[in-house]
Amino acid sequence: MRPSSVVLKLIMAVSGIALVLFLFAHAAGNLKIFVGNEDFDHYAHWLRTIGTPLLPDVWFLWIMRVGLLVAVLAHIWSATVLTVRAKKARPVKYAHRPKIQGSYAARTMRWGGVLVLLFIIYHLLDLTTGHLNPVGDSSRPHANVIADFAPDRWYVTLFYTVSIIAVGLHLQHGIFSAVRTLGQQTKHGERRAKAAASLLALALVAMYLSVPFAVLTGLVD
Ligand code: HEM
Repeated sequence: MRPSSVVLKLIMAVSGIALVLFLFAHAAGNLKIFVGNEDFDHYAHWLRTIGTPLLPDVWFLWIMRVGLLVAVLAHIWSATVLTVRAKKARPVKYAHRPKIQGSYAARTMRWGGVLVLLFIIYHLLDLTTGHLNPVGDSSRPHANVIADFAPDRWYVTLFYTVSIIAVGLHLQHGIFSAVRTLGQQTKHGERRAKAAASLLALALVAMYLSVPFAVLTGLVD
């Protein structure tokens, strides 16, 4: 089977949108830390019980995890095939490649994507399995987060900050491209899509960064 590039772009757009929806839901959930310790832990516990009693405990969580994994794999696979095809179509590099080609976000999609992937692996070992977390107790996510971003572990906050900005840049260009793939844009529409993508990406970055910085500065403890 050799899917056409249009089909691959559709797969990228649809899997990307699913990931964006997850990112917003996750960011909103994280903000519970500003409500209180118990609320945050209660929310994490609730995540494990969604769907009960129709579904047994943690089933919904696992369905979501499998869905996320499928979306990530589909996104990376379609991006890779499209990249290889683009390289094959133009094996000789441009002799005079203009220095500024597209926005910063557009030019960093590939390496930014790789950084985001490395971050996700670190993040899962940190806050889901607890292996890289000083507390590492999955029944106490609040304590894990506080320990994670303690001032003496400033390098963890730095790594999260760089990674979350990479997520934001990836998203800014990604949302814009998905809108373009899913519907023909007029010039005016493209400008609006770009503004909306920037706004959404900025909001997401602010929501995510508020947590480590609130811990670092002692606003939550
Ligand atoms: C400072 C920002 C973030 C904080 C404080 C945070 C916090 C957490 C916590 C506490 C968990 C474990 C939840 C549980 O108890 O099950 C978690 C899981 C997760 N986070 Fe984050 N997160 C942040 C940013 C991100 C970003 C930017 C991404 C994606 C690029 C992400 C993706 C995930 C994923 C995929 C899981 C696993 C969900 C699961 O299968 O249980 N997180 N996060």
